Amino acid sequence: MPLNGESEELANNQEKNEQPVLTNRQGHPIYDNQNNRTVGERGPTVLENYNFLEKISHFDRERIPERVVHARGTGAHGYFEAYGTIGNEPASKYTRAKLFQEKGKRTPVLVRFSSVIHGGHSPETLRDPRGFAVKFYTEDGNWDLVGNNLKIFFIRDALKFPDLIHAFKPDPVTNIQDANRIFDFISQTPEAMHMITFLFSPRGIPANYREQEGAGVNTYKMVNADGEAVLVKYHWIPKQGVRGLTQAQANEIQSTNFNHATQDLYQAIERGDYPEWELQIQIMSDDEHPELDFDPLDDTKLWPADQFPMLPAGRMVLDRNPVNYFAEIEQAAFGTGVLVDGLDFSDDKMLQGRTFSYSDTQRYRVGANYLQLPTNRPKKHVATNQRDGQMAYVVDGVEAGENPHINYEPSSRNGLVEATRTGHKDHTPYVEGHVMRKKLSRTNDYKQAGERYREIEDWERDDLIKNLVSALKTCNKDIQEQMVYHFTQCDPEYGQRVADGIGIKMAQTTQV
Ligand code: HEM
Repeated sequence: MPLNGESEELANNQEKNEQPVLTNRQGHPIYDNQNNRTVGERGPTVLENYNFLEKISHFDRERIPERVVHARGTGAHGYFEAYGTIGNEPASKYTRAKLFQEKGKRTPVLVRFSSVIHGGHSPETLRDPRGFAVKFYTEDGNWDLVGNNLKIFFIRDALKFPDLIHAFKPDPVTNIQDANRIFDFISQTPEAMHMITFLFSPRGIPANYREQEGAGVNTYKMVNADGEAVLVKYHWIPKQGVRGLTQAQANEIQSTNFNHATQDLYQAIERGDYPEWELQIQIMSDDEHPELDFDPLDDTKLWPADQFPMLPAGRMVLDRNPVNYFAEIEQAAFGTGVLVDGLDFSDDKMLQGRTFSYSDTQRYRVGANYLQLPTNRPKKHVATNQRDGQMAYVVDGVEAGENPHINYEPSSRNGLVEATRTGHKDHTPYVEGHVMRKKLSRTNDYKQAGERYREIEDWERDDLIKNLVSALKTCNKDIQEQMVYHFTQCDPEYGQRVADGIGIKMAQTTQV
């Protein structure tokens, strides 16, 4: 039987076990794919050569814009298997999201791992957070959990994101990444100290994509059938363990292989050594938590695991490589706004900003109909009155039985109708306040960075200092001094060791 758009001829050839025949996109067989049509053997090429025009014009358009961040990446398919519980409680206590409810229930997933700053084929050994984006194709539509391996972030307000990224991207004049620009920005951004302490330690260069953690980073909510919400943070804990590289180890790999992480994931899956992560969830009641010295909506902070235990909720296994990288991974579009019933946003200011940004950039990067592509389209029911636009491929309301004349709602003529909510209450948080521009008051920018500095092993601390010193050595004196001030606030020894390494005196350090 011909499959999706496959010609009868191709299907017949396959049945007869013959080689599939090359055609153009109009279905015309190609009899000569070696020689262009010319006037005589040595004469000019003729313009009516449709096959050549189609082939070369399509080639000319093979690239779409890269992701503005996270351009370098790879991905795989797999499944999420729920435990039916979150910690010792039934999952339904916290969320009515269907994918969590039954023990053993499997939901297909697509995962894309990435690095942030450089272009599509940049080395995978660079010091950079790693993106960890998961698309769950649930029965209620898609849920995307778009996170990273370091569990926190540099900034806590979405307004600062383009500046952060500009500072880390190559200099617009030289087109070279420049530590002086990075630390110029960071030295004025004390909330980044926690992330910097992770990033310049071996955690900043994961050994590969399998031996790394992941996290949703931002604070979300889970909502149960009674409409009651809790604040949550999501974590992916790798069964493979966590392994980071020293700068020297990374340099050695990079000298012979700049695709090592993509290769590692692909080969592991090909040989049946499927990587696996456990989803663990931290939970807090949905309020301001004045007793804490940080704000639960601040994504530069970790929630201490002794106060907010990591509660297992399921496991994720990656067991299938893409057949085509471009179609399934490059065109994949993940976003923080993509939630299912039972999962919700918090007021985390980064999360709110991200939620606008992802689908906005994807309409530009992939196109207005990016959600019609098989990799992005929910596996279940899709029925909208959205029509047309570039590359419209399906008329999704009509597929679901809608009268093809009716692309509006309400209608009395067999159009689409609103879904009815059954058996659960809406979560309707109460919000009141003056509209203002103000940072969260519990900033506490240094404490967790200092704790991290003290808790890592000696070799990791040595590598952290070495990496910071080597980057800061190339920076202007005022930036060096400002950075040493911040390190000192995190831990006096931290500041002292960086100052000694770059050869400046502590008394010269200043304050923002
Ligand atoms: C306000 C802050 C942020 C903004 C505006 C932002 C914006 C973006 C944009 C525009 C993309 C490209 C998406 C595409 O072309 O498909 C992207 C990708 C990505 N971002 Fe963010 N981002 C922010 C913060 C974060 C944070 C905090 C994390 C980690 C928790 C993160 C993780 C990712 C990941 C993993 C990807 C790649 C997704 C993929 O593999 O396709 N971003 N981000």
